[in-house]
Amino acid sequence: MEFYRSLYFLFCLSGQLLLNLPFSTAQLCHPVQSDALLQFNNSLIVETDTDSNCDPKMTTWTNGLDCCLWDGVTCDNVTGNIIGLDLSYSCLQGTIYSNNSLFALRHLQSLNLAFNNFRTSPILPELSVFAELRHLNLCDSNFSGLVPVEISFLSKLVLIDLSQNYKKDGMFKDQSLKIENTGFKILVQNLTELRELNLDFIDMSAISLSSFVNLSSSFTFFCAVDCILQGELPPNIFSLPNLLDLSLDFNDFMSLESLTLSFTSISGKIPNSIGEFKNLKTLHLSNCTLTGSIPSSLVNLTKLTTLDLSHNELTGHIPSFVVKLEQLMDVDLSLNNFIGVLDLGIFSTLKNLQALRLTVELNLMYNSMNHTFPKLDTLALPSCNLTEFPPFLNSLKMLRELDLSKNKIGVQIPRWFWDVGKGTLQSLDISSNLIEGGIQQFPWKELINVDLSDNLFQGPLPIPSLPIVLFRVDDNRFSGEIPSSICKVSSLKSLRLARNNLFGSIPQCLGNLANLSRIDLSANKFEGRFPQAIDNCASLAWLNVSHNRINDTFPKWLLEAPSLQVIALEFNEFHGQIDPPTVPFLPSSLLMFSISNNNLKGQWPEEFFLRCLNLMKVLFRFHRPPLKSIPLQTIRLVERFPL
Ligand SMILES: *[C@@H]1O[C@H](CO)[C@@H](O)[C@H](O)[C@H]1NC(C)=O
Ligand SMILES: *[C@@H]1O[C@H](CO)[C@@H](O)[C@H](O)[C@H]1NC(C)=O
Ligand SMILES: *[C@@H]1O[C@H](CO)[C@@H](O)[C@H](O)[C@H]1NC(C)=O
Ligand SMILES: *[C@@H]1O[C@H](CO)[C@@H](O)[C@H](O)[C@H]1NC(C)=O
Ligand SMILES: *[C@@H]1O[C@H](CO)[C@@H](O)[C@H](O)[C@H]1NC(C)=O
Ligand SMILES: *[C@@H]1O[C@H](CO)[C@@H](O)[C@H](O)[C@H]1NC(C)=O
Ligand SMILES: *[C@@H]1O[C@H](CO)[C@@H](O)[C@H](O)[C@H]1NC(C)=O
Ligand SMILES: *[C@@H]1O[C@H](CO)[C@@H](O)[C@H](O)[C@H]1NC(C)=O
Ligand SMILES: *[C@@H]1O[C@H](CO)[C@@H](O)[C@H](O)[C@H]1NC(C)=O
Ligand SMILES: *[C@@H]1O[C@H](CO)[C@@H](O)[C@H](O)[C@H]1NC(C)=O
Ligand SMILES: *[C@@H]1O[C@H](CO)[C@@H](O)[C@H](O)[C@H]1NC(C)=O
Ligand SMILES: *[C@@H]1O[C@H](CO)[C@@H](O)[C@H](O)[C@H]1NC(C)=O
Repeated sequence: MEFYRSLYFLFCLSGQLLLNLPFSTAQLCHPVQSDALLQFNNSLIVETDTDSNCDPKMTTWTNGLDCCLWDGVTCDNVTGNIIGLDLSYSCLQGTIYSNNSLFALRHLQSLNLAFNNFRTSPILPELSVFAELRHLNLCDSNFSGLVPVEISFLSKLVLIDLSQNYKKDGMFKDQSLKIENTGFKILVQNLTELRELNLDFIDMSAISLSSFVNLSSSFTFFCAVDCILQGELPPNIFSLPNLLDLSLDFNDFMSLESLTLSFTSISGKIPNSIGEFKNLKTLHLSNCTLTGSIPSSLVNLTKLTTLDLSHNELTGHIPSFVVKLEQLMDVDLSLNNFIGVLDLGIFSTLKNLQALRLTVELNLMYNSMNHTFPKLDTLALPSCNLTEFPPFLNSLKMLRELDLSKNKIGVQIPRWFWDVGKGTLQSLDISSNLIEGGIQQFPWKELINVDLSDNLFQGPLPIPSLPIVLFRVDDNRFSGEIPSSICKVSSLKSLRLARNNLFGSIPQCLGNLANLSRIDLSANKFEGRFPQAIDNCASLAWLNVSHNRINDTFPKWLLEAPSLQVIALEFNEFHGQIDPPTVPFLPSSLLMFSISNNNLKGQWPEEFFLRCLNLMKVLFRFHRPPLKSIPLQTIRLVERFPL
């Protein structure tokens, strides 16, 4: 599952293609406007330390020089008015108040403040002064609150990107940017020029899906990933009845090229009207709890290059007409409930196919596969009822990602498999099979993620080499000690060895792995001291060494680790007094704190948990803190996961 997350590429719109602003020095800029720019800059701070990716464009701004020549500033070549301001990635921090001089730049046609940090300030209604605005990009700049309804006054808007303004440092979305139903309805109805709208990660839980009916027929890009959209997709959602009339010359021509709705709680069927979007190139409807079958109208989307219907509850057969969509490069139909037996070979007619992900029973002639997939670099066949490693894998010369998880492969890894993707393979997931035998070493030199968990592997623990990041082998029968050579693999972030037969002491040198953030060694037979040196792992977030025989005092520094989420030390031989931490609170990031079934003694005041709003599980054996005076929010969480 960990691998799947990396498949979603979120991006901000560039908008550069649409607005071709003339750049010229025919007119000098107006002093009032250059003053407004300088005041705007001075109302904020420029913070270059925290993020090395940003580069303040304002360093080229020199008072006295024509501001039309300043970096990020575009003027109208006839009137000299500032019509474009692009301060994306400019390390700006601070709050924009309604008296900000920015709002004096009334001729702006394009405003790009993406990738700055406005410290959860709201997007102000004063925005409506930019009557000429065509492009508004506030992507990933830490805005919060309600999207002001005044945005709908800006009737010339062509592009809006408000995406990724979410609270990144916590689980809760309280501070996400939010859009209300009425506001969205008006936006959709009033902004008839809008062609690109990116609302990824905005809280749209209040939006009624029926509002989508009014989306402008001239849309080319619509994206709403992880927006808490909910409800049933109305059958006419994509039929755009009202606005069709307005698109004069276009008749029923739909210009939408990219549609993404995912990570939301939409439900219902994929409407057959989807087939009307004849220009659609990318369709992402993943993780939407969609039911029903793939509509036959899909056959009309002949320009599709990306089809992603993954992680839904779609049923029926995977229609073979899919392979008539000849432009397809990326097909993801995995993690659904499709029935029937699919001949994998039909996909070999798609000459551009680079990525294929399916969950369906496959008809694989294991010995006589002569299909070729010349460009395929990503193949995921989870839960396809495979019983062997399919030999055609051998012909995939560019394979970067392979997922054969949750099948019934019950053999040893065949010798030929070690040559598959040699020199290219970066991600290998063969978890949840019945694969036997030992592994001496990994032949893949580019491997970044490997998941062998939940199999019957045995023998000594194989150690992958750099640049491995995720190494997961839990639920196998590996035995012996952890070789200290693991401490040379400095790229490692996640080390998961739980539930094997490993023993000996945990190498102190794990502390050399500065990037290690997740360690799970639980349910083995490790003994001896706790590896105190892992206090060097500055990004440690997840530590589980429970159910071993570790005999040590409580590693007190753990409670001060800045990004800690899980501490699980239960069922060991930790002993002695455990004093309250010297820090005033436990870290607010903490999700689980479990130290029961040791020989620890202590008594902690309840205040330590006050900030742990996300805490899901606390396990103490010693005198546990009385909970009656903990604030409501915490009690609610603790009640959900009782002590
Ligand atoms: C922009 O603002 C920063 C911080 O307020 C300041 O250090 C810098 O001198 C300003 N730049 C100009 C050109 O005024
Ligand atoms: C000014 O911009 C217009 C387009 O808006 C362009 O046609 C014209 O050539 C430009 N004039 C100069 C002097 O650059
Ligand atoms: C702008 O408003 C903020 C907040 O109301 C205030 O702190 C600041 O002094 C004002 N700035 C000017 C120049 O009036
Ligand atoms: C957003 O702003 C808040 C308030 O200043 C701050 O605590 C938080 O760290 C910021 N988030 C990001 C991702 O910069
Ligand atoms: C809709 O746009 C028009 C300008 O085209 C504007 O006058 C009107 O106030 C807008 N309505 C709303 C509710 O935003
Ligand atoms: C769609 O727009 C029309 C006016 O153009 C309006 O009457 C109708 O209520 C809108 N429908 C939805 C679901 O917002
Ligand atoms: C789908 O969404 C659920 C929550 O809505 C989340 O737990 C799950 O990880 C998502 N799936 C993927 C593949 O990201
Ligand atoms: C495909 O489009 C054509 C022309 O618009 C239409 O007649 C046909 O019914 C569509 N096919 C499906 C399966 O929807
Ligand atoms: C998987 O294969 C077995 C036979 O090996 C068959 O009985 C079973 O129905 C298949 N399951 C699915 C979900 O296709
Ligand atoms: C292999 O290819 C030949 C001709 O290219 C074809 O006749 C045969 O059916 C194919 N075999 C399989 C198993 O697809
Ligand atoms: C550790 O992580 C950082 C940030 O992700 C990365 O730049 C660095 O290369 C990593 N170190 C190693 C040794 O891989
Ligand atoms: C734990 O270690 C201490 C000293 O290092 C020793 O005295 C004690 O017997 C050990 N406890 C167990 C249960 O092994």
